[in-house]
Amino acid sequence: MTAPWWRSAVFYQIYPRSFASSRGTPTGDLAGIEAHLDHLSWLGVDAIWISPFYPSPQADFGYDVSDYCDVDPLFGDLDTFDHLLAACHDRGIRLLVDLVPNHTSDQHPWFVAARSSRDDPKRDWYIWRDGDPDTPPNNWIAAFSPVPAWTWDETTGQWYLHLFLPQQPDLNWANPAVVEAMHGVMRFWLDRGVDGFRVDVIHGIGKDPELPDAPPELAGIPQAGLNDTPQTHELIRGMRELVDSYPGDRLLLGEVYLLSTRRVAQYYGRDDELHLSFNFPPLHTPWNGPRWRQQIADTRHYIDGRGAWPTWVLSNHDNVRHRSRYGSEARARAALFLLLGLRGSPVLYAGEELGLEDAVIPPWHVVDPGGRDGCRAPIPWTGAPDHGWGVTQAWLPWPPEADERNVEALAADDTSILHLYRRLLAARKASPALQLGDFAEVDAPDDVVAWRRIAKGPGAGDRVVVVNMGAEPATVDVAGTVLVSSDGQGEDAPFTGTVRADHAVLIEPAGAR
Ligand code: GLC
Repeated sequence: MTAPWWRSAVFYQIYPRSFASSRGTPTGDLAGIEAHLDHLSWLGVDAIWISPFYPSPQADFGYDVSDYCDVDPLFGDLDTFDHLLAACHDRGIRLLVDLVPNHTSDQHPWFVAARSSRDDPKRDWYIWRDGDPDTPPNNWIAAFSPVPAWTWDETTGQWYLHLFLPQQPDLNWANPAVVEAMHGVMRFWLDRGVDGFRVDVIHGIGKDPELPDAPPELAGIPQAGLNDTPQTHELIRGMRELVDSYPGDRLLLGEVYLLSTRRVAQYYGRDDELHLSFNFPPLHTPWNGPRWRQQIADTRHYIDGRGAWPTWVLSNHDNVRHRSRYGSEARARAALFLLLGLRGSPVLYAGEELGLEDAVIPPWHVVDPGGRDGCRAPIPWTGAPDHGWGVTQAWLPWPPEADERNVEALAADDTSILHLYRRLLAARKASPALQLGDFAEVDAPDDVVAWRRIAKGPGAGDRVVVVNMGAEPATVDVAGTVLVSSDGQGEDAPFTGTVRADHAVLIEPAGAR
């Protein structure tokens, strides 16, 4: 049996407001993505996932959807989407759309109807509770600000639940009509030919009907009341069945935003829930050898250990970019060897190939209710004042150093981080061991993370990756040839046994072929 495409794929996330504009507008659009597919092909990514582009009042920049089956005019229309999808497929790039099943916008016609009266047929599509207007039904807290996850609806005299903004009411997935509607949405996009979904907050959809309080020690933490219900797992199995009924290995990649790999692993089910899940604990792990070894061990134990396939991600539209968190380009370069070298599917975030830091957002320019603007700064394509956008001021400030740190400038410099990304992606694509091979830890000093990827097929060679997170050069007992090094030094030459501080190497070990 050959492995499904998504096991060996490198994914690349596009936040469409910030990627590229085809019309000289301050926000990006779908045609802007299509215009830059050359960049993605050149880089060597296999699949993209695009954050929401559906009609939306943009209270949460598209994660508040008012129509699941259309494109917001800000980004284009369904024809633009179809064109983009065809252009991706022509290049062999797969495309995932972002499914937001946990909540809609308060402007979605379903919620507008639901909130119009207690007797409306859509009333039970959302989660309503009686009570006194001063006392929310439980202690759950909404994301982004320390307010209750409940809003009192004056007109109908009940509370409604929202894990996120009051403008994002949670759907009631206990109602079979909601399940059917959302399955219809999935079919709509699958029939158009998408390769699958990144699924937002998937672990939240099946609420415990009692909606019990979060444990007192966790009260005050958003989503602390979600408790991995059997309902959620059952609902995910339903989605999986639907997706698997389509030909071509369509994919469910879930955003299980739980900071426990043990809990994340459960969302793979018995190979009957998510095909892939994000696993965020490594993203929250500092640049520290022992801490990273623990993350790798947890992932191996809980995810590989159940026969499932992990993912690796260090940056996205919700978190400070890892270039900023880790504090140097040298570390950002070395971190790529974790993403592309560990066993699992890497998910890159647009702009990390430029080594972008978060933009500095002056207080008067903050627009996101969650304060996540810095990592959403627009991608600088050129060194010109408009950075290839056709406007000098995009919807958010440019990231630091955009005059020098842009696609055009870095593409012209083969020592740049951009070229390192391209080289390491190519080395991964050329190596069945790196894509699909087994994993074995390699003995190394404390500050160093080192492992071997073990080839199975004939002609496929093992690979060794060494990442030195320490402040001093480190020595490891490996002989072979350096294929890629994080600063470009010493490639195609025998490995000296020493890796400089904050550097990484990919080695073809002696005797591997
Ligand atoms: C997910 C998204 C985030 C959004 C939230 C609510 O965590 O990644 O951007 O704000 O869900 O939809």
